[in-house]
Amino acid sequence: MVCLGNICRSPLAEGILKSKVNSANVYVDSAGTAGYHIGAKPDSRSIEIAQEFGIDITNQRCRKFSLNDFKKFDIIYVMDESNYENVLALALSASDKQKVKLLLDVLDYGPHEVPDPYYGGKDGFKNIYYMIDEACSKIANSLNQLN
Ligand code: 4NP
Repeated sequence: MVCLGNICRSPLAEGILKSKVNSANVYVDSAGTAGYHIGAKPDSRSIEIAQEFGIDITNQRCRKFSLNDFKKFDIIYVMDESNYENVLALALSASDKQKVKLLLDVLDYGPHEVPDPYYGGKDGFKNIYYMIDEACSKIANSLNQLN
């Protein structure tokens, strides 16, 4: 799960998807394309909204997306078009590129991007929570069928 800062959207996506899959079968992690907040906890507004839905993301620490992630992961979900461009710019092969998908495109309807909530208020975090949750339910359903 990749966004820009790895403190707002992708930590929520990591926590939500983890809550829906068996960790023995599916490894979920998150990263940011920027290095502004490396080592930091998720944004307090993401922590709070996750807590309201019973998900604890306080143990997560921000890291920067790295080239090695193309080797380590089968699918790389990004939150918006800008993340998509940033990650694709690091890809070394066609198979790397094929791993990169917009998270909300797993749904057949609705918006394509999870908007950046960083400069907005709490409502924005609730809004993205629902979007991410819906996409993660669909991903988890298909992953759980494989296992
Ligand atoms: P995120 O949100 O990409 O969802 O983690 C942001 C967090 C921090 C910044 C931008 C977006 N920032 O500019 O510091």
